[in-house]
Amino acid sequence: MDNIIEKILELKEKKKALILAHNYQIAQIQDIADFVGDSLELSKTSKGATASLIVFCGVRFMAETAKILSKEKKVLLPAQAAGCPLAETINADDVLNLRKLHPNAWVVSYVNTSAEVKAASDVCCTSSNAINVVKNVPTKDVIFVPDKNLGHWVKKNVPEKNIILWNGGCYVHEQFTLDDLLQARKKFPEAEIIVHPECRKEILEKCDFVASTAGMLKRAKQSKAKIIIIGTEEGLLHKLKKENPDKQFFSLGISRTCLNMKKTTLNELLVSLEKEIYEINLEKEIIEKAGFALERMVQYV
Ligand code: 13P
Ligand code: SF4
Repeated sequence: MDNIIEKILELKEKKKALILAHNYQIAQIQDIADFVGDSLELSKTSKGATASLIVFCGVRFMAETAKILSKEKKVLLPAQAAGCPLAETINADDVLNLRKLHPNAWVVSYVNTSAEVKAASDVCCTSSNAINVVKNVPTKDVIFVPDKNLGHWVKKNVPEKNIILWNGGCYVHEQFTLDDLLQARKKFPEAEIIVHPECRKEILEKCDFVASTAGMLKRAKQSKAKIIIIGTEEGLLHKLKKENPDKQFFSLGISRTCLNMKKTTLNELLVSLEKEIYEINLEKEIIEKAGFALERMVQYV
């Protein structure tokens, strides 16, 4: 183990590579990464990076986003099979069909989408800026894809817009139930319940705080509660515990795992970095169009 970590660090130094990791990655990957964050933070970090080689420990749509925002850089995805089932619920043709049905609407796509879907959208958003992005689009009708739970949350917070939803959902977050929340309240009446907006509507309505993974980390630090229950993928517990040793953290109900987020191991990271394999390659036109929707997001928040 120490040997593999040493090799990765040595290669990283030699190649002047930047290792980025999402908050759901396994602890060993989080600990070796240069930066660990949510989708928005990772996008910004990849864009602002001086390194010409980025190794992205996360899922495909995140590595694609890094490539779109830094097209001159080489972006590697060590776990080449790490997709996101939520992103796969919609394709670019679906977006074009929605446009035909709602010609006056702008399309806002969550970053959990393929590069092609982003390219077919007017603007992108992440879980941390979705409400602000939708508030700022110039049309009253807004097509929001693909996550219906985040979409409902946006709808509730931006009542002045007519929001058309796609029926996509994250199988990890949709496993949390209202009963899990009610049981947690009974067991830990003094605890604060913080959840991700991909959770079901009834959970979003009854919890104490809704935020992206970075927002959850921020809230946990600021909260006066000594026990915090989290409704998101269990990988976030690593950083939560590390940053708040005086607090106790539990998953809402049974802890839930995103299998794709766990596909990156130290070994895969080493092989990808060493051989510079599993590079993200996208068509120039897709990069340009998707880049426009992503850059617009940054201007809107
Ligand atoms: P965040 O942007 O909040 O980290 O979420 C990404 C994700 O995939 C949630 O399931
Ligand atoms: Fe996709 Fe859900 Fe995994 Fe996030 S947790 S990457 S939305 S499957």
